[in-house]
Amino acid sequence: MLELRTSANQQVTPLNVAIRKRRATQGFKPDPIPDVLLNEILESALLAPSGYNLQPWRFVVVKEEEARKRLRKAAMNQAKVEEAPVVVIACADPNSWRKDIDRVIRLGQEAGQIEDEQTAEFIRSNATKYLSSTDTRLWATKQTMIAYTQMMLLAETLGLDTAPMEGFFEDQVKKEFDIPEDLIVLALLALGKSGKADRPFGGRFDLDDLISLDKFGKPYGGS
Ligand SMILES: Cc1cc2nc3c(=O)[nH]c(=O)nc-3n(C[C@H](O)[C@H](O)[C@H](O)COP(=O)(O)O)c2cc1C
Repeated sequence: MLELRTSANQQVTPLNVAIRKRRATQGFKPDPIPDVLLNEILESALLAPSGYNLQPWRFVVVKEEEARKRLRKAAMNQAKVEEAPVVVIACADPNSWRKDIDRVIRLGQEAGQIEDEQTAEFIRSNATKYLSSTDTRLWATKQTMIAYTQMMLLAETLGLDTAPMEGFFEDQVKKEFDIPEDLIVLALLALGKSGKADRPFGGRFDLDDLISLDKFGKPYGGS
């Protein structure tokens, strides 16, 4: 079993420590999250990388007590949804690339990354070709979970606790929070301070179980 050391070999950074110490939080205190922290966490999602920089994620930040109660109902009555001062609903938009491709190119031009019209046209036609023949539900999901993970890990490094959740009824979450039908509700992320003991570490498979070297199935040999 992969060992849960509190520090990673010689490389001790707040991120290593947070990755090793993070647990899915079982219950939250009501203490609010200062806006400055919450905004930094939300921006960490927006700073995530995505294919063609298309940023197909959309988030709903649920803070109001009444809204958290409604979300709890849609989330199989999981108490932590109502307890946590903030719950982020992470959604992916499989169609946003069609309307955002021009916007993304303009952004790149304004930022000085895309320097001429030829490059802009190359990106536009390349992205359009790729995405119109791709399963964009999977594509948008892939990108959004990177942004989601950045939020989760940054929150942990900032001294907060997190609870990722997929236990909810998507149709109910969409209805309660006016989320457009064509979006995918991927996961909830409760943020706050833990008010309940963590469950013991549940273990992880070994390097050699899941990681191959040079070809699939050849043990990596790092354990
Ligand atoms: C995307 C995702 C969805 C999850 N959904 C739920 C959930 O709905 N309810 C819950 O209690 N735990 C949920 N979990 C927590 C997992 O059970 C937990 O992460 C796993 O058992 C490993 O434990 P650890 O995170 O404490 O290391 C979810 C985790 C992830 C990453």
